[in-house]
Amino acid sequence: MKNLCVLIMAAGKGTRMKSAAPKVLQPVLDRPIIDYVIGNVLEAGVNPQDTAVLVGSGGGLVEGHISKKFPSLKVLWQHEQLGTGHAVKSALDWWKDYDSLIVLNGDVPLLKPESLKELISACEKNDCTVITFNAENPGAYGRIIRGENSVSIVEYKDASPEQRKINEVNAGCYAFKVKSLLKIINSITNNNAQKEYYITDSLGLMNEQGMTTGAFILPEEEMQGVNTQAELAGVSRAMRMRILSRWLNEGVIIYDPESVYIGPDVILSPDVSIMPNVQIWGSSKIGEGSVIGSGSILTNAEIGRNVKIIAYAVIENSIIKDGAKAGPFCYIRDNTCLEEKSFAGKFVELKNSHIGEGSKVPHLSYMGDATLGHDVNIGAGSITCNYDGENKNKTFIGNNCFIGSNTMFVAPVELDDGAATAAGSVITQKVPENSLGVGRARQKNIADWSLRNHHNHKTTAKGEE
Ligand code: UD1
Ligand code: MG
Repeated sequence: MKNLCVLIMAAGKGTRMKSAAPKVLQPVLDRPIIDYVIGNVLEAGVNPQDTAVLVGSGGGLVEGHISKKFPSLKVLWQHEQLGTGHAVKSALDWWKDYDSLIVLNGDVPLLKPESLKELISACEKNDCTVITFNAENPGAYGRIIRGENSVSIVEYKDASPEQRKINEVNAGCYAFKVKSLLKIINSITNNNAQKEYYITDSLGLMNEQGMTTGAFILPEEEMQGVNTQAELAGVSRAMRMRILSRWLNEGVIIYDPESVYIGPDVILSPDVSIMPNVQIWGSSKIGEGSVIGSGSILTNAEIGRNVKIIAYAVIENSIIKDGAKAGPFCYIRDNTCLEEKSFAGKFVELKNSHIGEGSKVPHLSYMGDATLGHDVNIGAGSITCNYDGENKNKTFIGNNCFIGSNTMFVAPVELDDGAATAAGSVITQKVPENSLGVGRARQKNIADWSLRNHHNHKTTAKGEE
């Protein structure tokens, strides 16, 4: 006999979502619903080997996702979706040798690990325990019928007008003694309004056989299910607010929480300041004292300490080290690294580039597949011509180089330490150490040209008419 297992039901069609994607893969912030449910189970201390996800409708996609992200979990199939009672029964061969079985709806992402622990401990007490909540608008949730010493559930579609008035509803999280469930599971029928096998009928059947059933109430905020796009939006909002309050409690300064989105896997530090209208996603990490300016979107960005992201910066899969600055209006992506105290400024795009300590790319530039040493200054409008139509080629710029405005680096190309380029140069060859690369046509002045060609225009010294 093994101790406890958890079955997450995720085979349902999710018809009410009106989406081609399986319901449990719909995102709450930037993570699929099912990941939260699995995360809670694992955080509550359940072994991944004792956790199974039941898939069916769109199951190939769900299985693919789970085997990639949670490879030690078991994936079970319910080929026909005949209801939650049928779902639990179709996994019977997997759970029948355990002592206790926790069954969770796959669509309750807000459930907290401590609540799940409470449900697990209820396995000792009753043959079946369910989590309930008092719903402000109980809608289509199953209604909880409390007897003197027992609990049963009537589904909304089967409920009488009186029963529909009940506000206490079933959250879809159940703790069973396996022996007791085995005794009644074959007695669940589909003789009801939806012609489905309901797991919720197991409580009534247990009561009839003198077994014990119970329920405990949790806050509605934690127990909302996702069945429609509106519910998905509501759950996403609740999750967002939960994440924001967590970081506010940890000493993060968030000027306008209403306009800020922080994903569940993001890690922040005390004294990070987040300005209005910021989004931070993926595995982004931000060090102490850094400021993330308005309109910035960070995805998998590793930001050091005392970094200033000025405003409207988009940073993806890149590292910005201590004391560096970026923005406003820059795009930093694909494994770029801004070393300490370096700077990427206005209308600058950096791709797969390494910007050395103290180096600056202040305005209107594109550095792609480039490596810059320390203390380099890139003049406005300079770019790497890194793509020749077939390959991406590299540009190496040594330490202390000074790049004139509007320099084109035709990659592959290299500048040794201390090299400089003349403004407007097209650099196609290596510039040796401390040399100036000039790659532009010489200026020629044609005397009295204006007088001959523009004699009808009154031209002032400033060129104004
Ligand atoms: C269910 C409960 C209801 C409860 C509500 C809480 C039943 C009969 N009703 O209703 O009492 O208030 O959850 O959110 O259980 N699933 C399968 N296979 C199936 C059918 C469903 O795996 O054949 C899965 C779904 O993917 C979903 C979960 O079971 O994750 C619940 O199914 P859903 O259709 O959402 O049930 P509700 O109508 O919400
Ligand atoms: Mg549901």
